[in-house]
Amino acid sequence: MEPNDRVVVLDHPIVQHKLSILRDKHTPSSEFREIVSELALFETYEATRDLPLTNVFIHTPVAPFDAKQIAGRKVAFVPILRAGLGMVDGALAVVPTARVGHLGMARNEETHQPESYYDKLPRDIASRRVYVLDPMLATGGSGAAAVKYLRDAGVAGTIRFLCIVAAPEGIERLLAEDDDLVIYACAVDEGLNDDAYIVPGLGDAGDRIFGTE
Ligand code: PRP
Ligand code: URA
Repeated sequence: MEPNDRVVVLDHPIVQHKLSILRDKHTPSSEFREIVSELALFETYEATRDLPLTNVFIHTPVAPFDAKQIAGRKVAFVPILRAGLGMVDGALAVVPTARVGHLGMARNEETHQPESYYDKLPRDIASRRVYVLDPMLATGGSGAAAVKYLRDAGVAGTIRFLCIVAAPEGIERLLAEDDDLVIYACAVDEGLNDDAYIVPGLGDAGDRIFGTE
């Protein structure tokens, strides 16, 4: 895959409108949380576009019909705690039968390096199509650690990384560290500031989702 095929930006006007509400520092936690979930739904819809289909013979009330249904490997969503939790309900609205694994990671405020504090994946993670959920892709440290953890757990094939805002630095790092990864984002921002926050970004996503600012 070419680098450009590995980054999908959702440029739909509804997505861009909702993203602007997230960016606004006056948006309260309740609305912020609701919009993160909605954007996760749109991203999951886009990222599941290539799920394989199989034929199933059914009878409509009018006629027999060769219909389609989802086939193949099952889905797992893997939120990176905490902020990724805000995307789980939206993702599950698209694929309610998916399993959910959790990876707990917190960026050290001084070094900006991720520190892992929790992990729990479905036992059969290696046989599932995996979608990582985290609203922010900044330096890419947390994302890269999560992807490596999943590869070490046996996940093969394309991992899809669903974020809301990405920095070019994070995109570059994730794509360089894994050959079979596709990033979905609602926006690619200018870059990072001295605290490794995305600019213009939307601030600390976890704090804004959970009201811990
Ligand atoms: C945020 C965010 C990502 C990470 C991105 O989480 O949700 O996981 O930072 O930064 P990076 O790309 O530079 O690693 P944070 O560590 O603040 O934890 P939280 O979700 O508990 O707020
Ligand atoms: N984590 C956040 O929540 N926001 C950023 O801008 C960077 C890392």
